[in-house]
Amino acid sequence: MKEIKAAMIGLGSVNKNLLRILSDKADILSGKYGLSFKIVVVADSSGVAVNEDGFDMLSLVDHKQNGNSVSGLAGYTHASACDAVTSTALDIIFEASPVDFETGGEGLELARAALSKGISVVLANKGPVVKAHSELRSLARENGAGFKYSATVCGGLPVLNIGERDLIAGNISKLSGVFNGTSNFIFDALANGMSFDDAIIEAQNVGAAEADPSLDTGGWDAAFKLLIIANSILDANIELGDIDVEGIEDITPEMLAAESSAGNIIKLVASFEDGNYSVKPAVVSKDTFLGSCSGWEMGIEIHSDIYGISYHKLYEKEPVPTAASMMRDAVNIFAD
Ligand SMILES: NC(=O)c1ccc[n+]([C@@H]2O[C@H](COP(=O)([O-])OP(=O)(O)OC[C@H]3O[C@@H](n4cnc5c(N)ncnc54)[C@H](OP(=O)(O)O)[C@@H]3O)[C@@H](O)[C@H]2O)c1
Repeated sequence: MKEIKAAMIGLGSVNKNLLRILSDKADILSGKYGLSFKIVVVADSSGVAVNEDGFDMLSLVDHKQNGNSVSGLAGYTHASACDAVTSTALDIIFEASPVDFETGGEGLELARAALSKGISVVLANKGPVVKAHSELRSLARENGAGFKYSATVCGGLPVLNIGERDLIAGNISKLSGVFNGTSNFIFDALANGMSFDDAIIEAQNVGAAEADPSLDTGGWDAAFKLLIIANSILDANIELGDIDVEGIEDITPEMLAAESSAGNIIKLVASFEDGNYSVKPAVVSKDTFLGSCSGWEMGIEIHSDIYGISYHKLYEKEPVPTAASMMRDAVNIFAD
């Protein structure tokens, strides 16, 4: 049995679900994969706590669900998350703190510090991958650490795993996907006669929109996911500026109604074809795969020379599949 000592950075929706999964699946993780996880560092916006004997996972969930903070835990320390992570014996950090696309934020600093010490990193936070994918991948290789982030692209949909593991020697000539559920909700609300501003509120009410909805409506959330796919499975080494990004702000109820009567639908489509990367609202037939990705669904179709055209879709309402992806990444790093 390998004991995996872990830090959890962020104790919000994603990492609370990860704690539940690690607890609920402990028997399978030990019986089938020979792994036993122990949470020795936790951090939220109030600070960091360390318990070398391991925090009780479900008590941590209850503590946060009851509105309490890490600062109220035994083991609370005034150290920064970076200092706590680098001064504690750790095998992995699970990073699910808020995204910072401008600088990569504290998540990027933590990932650098951990990987430099040979501590593996699993991310749900896209910021570090968007800002510094190639640097972090090199750091991981140099220091013999695992570096995985399958949860950053469409939550539980294993797009990166399929690309990296299953399409061996395949040449991907084209891919296109619907990566942003908020846009699906806004299009549906507009089609029901709401104004754009009310449609954003509707998307926030159902829990689909980011805290800053312009990341969704401006096409940026989808562009970040396309960037991660390009650099991970197409080895493209591109930057955000290489993606032609157009948001959905100019789509009107009239445009949606006109397309609907012709059997079409408008989707925010992220695509790669002929060396070009784009995120744009596109008219697609309702009968197509992309036309069928609605509401809480995200999907991608991948065209390859030797693996045909494959279609992958996920329904994810609560971030349980996102959290499960982080557990999956950790198992892929440590299981023999
Ligand atoms: N939710 C999803 O479906 C989903 C899917 C894929 C990826 N993601 C990504 O996963 C990450 C987490 O998402 P979430 O939905 O779990 O967010 P969330 O519910 O808002 O939780 C964020 C957590 O991060 C903590 N935090 C804030 N600032 C921090 C800091 N400086 N250091 C350490 N922790 C800090 C917060 O502390 P407090 O508890 O004190 O506020 C909270 O516990 C985000 O980057 C998100 O984009 C989310």
